[in-house]
This record gives sequence, C-alpha cells and structure tokens, in this order.
Amino acid sequence: MIRILGIETSCDETAVAIVSNATAGHRILSNVVTSHLEPKDYGGVVPEIAARSHLKHLKQCYIKAIADAKISPHDIDAIAVTSGPGLAGGLLVGMNFAKGLAVALDKPILAINHLEAHALTARLTHDAAFPYLLLLASGGHTQFILVKDIGSYSLLGDTLDDSAGECFDKCAKMMDLPYPGGPQIETLALQGNEDAFSLPIPLLNQPGCNFSFSGLKTAFKEMYASQQDQFDKSDFAACLQKTITKHLLHKLNKAIKMVDSPISSIVFSGGVAANQYIRSALDIFVSQAGSKAIYPPIHLCTDNAAMIAWVGIERFSRHKKSHLDFKCQPRWPLAELN
Ligand code: KG4
Ligand code: ZN
Repeated sequence: MIRILGIETSCDETAVAIVSNATAGHRILSNVVTSHLEPKDYGGVVPEIAARSHLKHLKQCYIKAIADAKISPHDIDAIAVTSGPGLAGGLLVGMNFAKGLAVALDKPILAINHLEAHALTARLTHDAAFPYLLLLASGGHTQFILVKDIGSYSLLGDTLDDSAGECFDKCAKMMDLPYPGGPQIETLALQGNEDAFSLPIPLLNQPGCNFSFSGLKTAFKEMYASQQDQFDKSDFAACLQKTITKHLLHKLNKAIKMVDSPISSIVFSGGVAANQYIRSALDIFVSQAGSKAIYPPIHLCTDNAAMIAWVGIERFSRHKKSHLDFKCQPRWPLAELN
C-alpha cells in the first residue's frame, strides 16, 4: 500500500489530499479544497493576493486532510507538490511547505506538473488505459494532448490566444457576472435561447486543431454593447456557450483525425469540463465517432490536490522521485516532461 500526500497551490485554490494505492485499487482518503474569496472580489486572480491567501490557508488544509484520512503524518510514503506551471508566488508557498514537511517527516518528495495531473486524473477515476486523447480546457489552457504513457505526451493542438475558461470568465465579466464566469454562464444559459443570434465560430476553415477565443470574445463584446436591449442576458449566455461548444467539437473532430494509432478513449478534463451542456454535446459527438468519452467527476476536473497525489503515486511507483532542491517552474509545457 502506498499513501501519497498531494499539495496544490498553482492558482487560486489551496488544496491538500491523500490518495492510497494498493493491489485492491486506489482510494481518495481525503480531498480538501479551499477556494479563496478574495480573487472573486477582484474579478479575477491577483497573484500577490492569491499567494498570501495560500499562506493563510495551507496549514489548516493540511491538518484537515490528515484528520479526514484518519492517519498519522508518519503513515505517508511521500509528498507530491505542484511546482508548475502556474503563478510563482503561490507555487513557492506550496513547494516550501512541502519541502519543510518532507524534511520534518523524513519522506521523499515529488515535484508535479499541474498539467500532467489534469492529464492523468482519468486514470485515478476511470483507470483509463494508454493511449488516450485528452481535451484539457481550463482557465489557463485549452489543449489536445495525446497521453501515451507517464511522462510521454504529444501536444496536438493549443490555443493561439485566450483559453476557453478565460473566454467564459471575460464574457461573464462584460455582463457584470461574478468570477469565475463559466458556472455563471452555464446556469444563466439554461433560461436563454441559444439561437437568439449567431456568433462566429473561430478558425472554422483553418486546418489543424488549434483554438482561438479572443476573436469570439471581441464579437461577443460588440454584440453585447449593441444588442443589450434586444436580448436577455440569458440569451447572451446561451449563444456564447453554444459557440464555444461548437468550436471545441469542430476541433475535436480534427484532433481525432490527426491521431494515427488507435486510442482507448477521449478524456475531457480541466475546469471547463464541469460544464454539463458541453459534456452532453461531446457525448453525442463521441458516440457518433464510435469512441468512448470519459469525464472525471466535476470536483476532480477543477483544481484539486487528489490529482496531484495521484501523479505522485504514478511516478513514485516508477521510482521517479525529485531532489529536495527542485525549482519552481511557472512555465512548464507537458512536452518537456519525462
Ligand atoms: O482547471 P481550473 O479549475 O483552474 C485552472 O487551472 O485554470 O479551471 C478554471 C476555469 C475558469 O475559467 C472557470 O470559469 C471554468 O474553468 N469553469 C467553467 C465551469 N466551471 C469552471 N467553465 C464553463 N462551465 C462551467 N461549469
Ligand atoms: Zn488546473
């Protein structure tokens, strides 16, 4: 039995979790996530405020994670901590806490890539077999990744500008909705008419499976400024959500064609994968394509530390430990991993 403690502080969630792995299977023993109030008040994440907030919450999250798991800190086999990509201030808070813990408990430490954690969540939740195609759509990223093995990833497509999550967040802000905008837009869209007007689907006639959201954001801004009296906010939300979904599916179709070997499944993860409307549309598309879709549960699609602990287990089992002097890597593409 291996038990790994995971720590996540790369953005605005302070999270600590403990995950175990045994021949009988793996289990999340505890999963503590604290979302800070401050970033929402500022309409986005303010790096300095987020870092101070991690400092304020991390110890309590750790104490709760140990208590929820009903174990002693000495029962942990190793500590896994996000060391990039993300906001440097927050990453340093988590890393220094983890390093201190590793020294105090005399346990090994593993520096974890946050994107790899999103990429491998489907193995924790669904035992997804390699290789699979991952659509990672979060506040920081919108990418197609071919997940071939631990540390072996091919980036098939990426956003040329904003991420899907940013598009949701920024358009929501234009309508004076609180941050994060994705869940707000999804709820509002339930009452709206998604055919009220049309927005341009980005890169429709471009080859490849890259994304672009900044043109859509500008089109939405102009539409909202000029047609605010014509339509309800819910119509704006529904039309935006539909256009983002169409863009994701159009590019998914291209990504599937770019993969030349058989894949076990299509995994949808990252914060935007919490969106039920997009999930349903993707489900229909994937079944028509004769493939299988995997959605990690919503609380494991958004930032959490169980996914960090899980990568810890995957890497620890393969003897891929880190030295205590590992560095913070605010920019750390998956392709650079091994
Ligand atoms: O993965 P995540 O929790 O943090 C990052 O690593 O970025 O993703 C956060 C993003 C935010 O942009 C948020 O608006 C979006 O995910 N999001 C959603 C939904 N829930 C969260 N977007 C659309 N629909 C949702 N239900
Ligand atoms: Zn994330």
